[in-house]
Amino acid sequence: MHIHSSEIRSKYLEFFKTKSHAIIPSAPLVPENDPSVLFNTAGMQPLVPYLLGQPHPMGKRIADVQKCVRTGDIDDVGDDTHLTFFEMLGNWSLGDYFKKESIAWSWEFLTDSKWLGLDPKMISVTVFEGDENAPRDEESADIWKSLGINADRIAYLPAEDNWWAAGPTGPCGPDTEIFYWVGEGEPQGNKGTHSKAWMEIWNNVFMQYNRVDANTLDKLPAPCVDTGMGLERVTVTLNGMKSVYETDAFADVLTAIKDLVGAENYVESSARIVADHLRSATHMISDGVVPKNVDQGYILRRLIRRAIREAYKMGYEKPIVADVAKLFIAKFENVYASVKTGADRILSELGKEEEKFGKSLKDGMREFDKLVKGFEIAFERTGQKITQIAGNKAFTLFDTYGFPVEMTVELAKERGLTVDVEGFEAAFAKHQELSRTAAEGKFKGGLGDQSGETVALHSACHLMLSGLRKVLGAHVAQAGSNITAERLRFDFTHGEKMTPEQISAVEAYVNEAIASGLRVTVSEEAKETAKGRGVIGSFWEKYPDVVKVYKMSGGNGTVYSEELCGGPHVETSAEMGKFKIVKEEASSSGVRRIKAVLEK
Ligand code: ALA
Repeated sequence: MHIHSSEIRSKYLEFFKTKSHAIIPSAPLVPENDPSVLFNTAGMQPLVPYLLGQPHPMGKRIADVQKCVRTGDIDDVGDDTHLTFFEMLGNWSLGDYFKKESIAWSWEFLTDSKWLGLDPKMISVTVFEGDENAPRDEESADIWKSLGINADRIAYLPAEDNWWAAGPTGPCGPDTEIFYWVGEGEPQGNKGTHSKAWMEIWNNVFMQYNRVDANTLDKLPAPCVDTGMGLERVTVTLNGMKSVYETDAFADVLTAIKDLVGAENYVESSARIVADHLRSATHMISDGVVPKNVDQGYILRRLIRRAIREAYKMGYEKPIVADVAKLFIAKFENVYASVKTGADRILSELGKEEEKFGKSLKDGMREFDKLVKGFEIAFERTGQKITQIAGNKAFTLFDTYGFPVEMTVELAKERGLTVDVEGFEAAFAKHQELSRTAAEGKFKGGLGDQSGETVALHSACHLMLSGLRKVLGAHVAQAGSNITAERLRFDFTHGEKMTPEQISAVEAYVNEAIASGLRVTVSEEAKETAKGRGVIGSFWEKYPDVVKVYKMSGGNGTVYSEELCGGPHVETSAEMGKFKIVKEEASSSGVRRIKAVLEK
């Protein structure tokens, strides 16, 4: 049996059409209304407002194929399963059907010979075992049994496995997950008893709650269903293949890369990275992202440059990106309109980036090799082994040769070395600050000035961010900040001008905290724990596994702010004075800027 991904995609949509679902196009990769993430990472993300109760213009039953990007596992790309771009098939009930229909339809689609016609024996499921938030999901288990699944094919698992949420806040609920047997011989047991042999193919989330903060779990206005089936994963699984690169999504692209670089130079893992990264890049550019040094543009730049470096590793120094991207354009132009209309732009943006980077890659590699050689010479002379590349060196590689710091880290790792990434970031920040100061014609203040005033303003920043999130919503995230002894300037993600009432409410929040006799304490905790319980922070991926969390609580015990930070902060609010927002204005699209002071 060979099922093409395109066939699964179209059958899926066709099936849900017969169940009265409206088929909607994929939302763009870059979220339109949610600045808290750079890219959509799940099919439900663009639908959050509707899960929270806003009526959807297409009705209460929706199905789609959503383009998603996840770069958290980028270092694993090249193995059999990890991809940075993937397509998620999803069907939604927005306050319409619930467990019974959702489960029955999944079963029908998977096993009915009119649709995928899978052998029911090859399928097992999991359901939520229950905890303080929601009961054991016997209801779902009973529905599965009524469809013919054996009790021993059902595993009851804890929230870690069977509770789904997109992030620390937002819609969430217990789920039931569907697995396909990929083990040796006859299917056995279930996910609980034979974990590795069962591959997840579909997740049906029964959204009933909205997590407002670590302590508040509200009920949704109406129960909803959110499902997700990763198209690439299901294709490789159903075809009994080992790797996603064997499927129609990639196989011909790898062959083309082999032809380009020559069979004798071909390295499978490098070719996979080239293919994966340029597939993501194709979609990102189709949705309007351009290579830049910040935000989505930086991720895109990193992917393109990494792909070029992998080709270079295979000894290929000629332009390659357009040849590969053309194959992906051909695969997707009839699936996503943006790819068809953006085809020329995709090729030209990729070409421009390749030209920019291709030229300096060779020189940069020479510079890098020289650096490492220097370490060896130093070792021979002094017996002292240097194992870390200094931050300013990594910055030179970035500034002069265009090496994203992640690439320098990777190159270093290949030679058993590390990079002082913090030092790189400091050099980067200093460089930005210097160019900004020069541009503004100002030479006073800025980074490095840690007078009592700047420290107090820094603490006020934390309180203000919490206040903004409380008043405007959890989508508010820090987008930049600059503090002098006189004032704080703070950029944050929010789409509209703040009203005078909202400004007063934020001021009141900060001043209440100050007046309550604030105590500031710092603690260290595991990054994942901090993230999980809703501690505020951006760029989590740049922090080590153990992070510092600054907590500001009032004399009455109320917690006003908990934020990831390196400090420094005031110890009490005695020196802070009165907080006042003096200006609120647009900074760039979707980003607002506040200037505020502490009046003594
Ligand atoms: N939102 C669920 C997931 O991404 C369906 O797995």
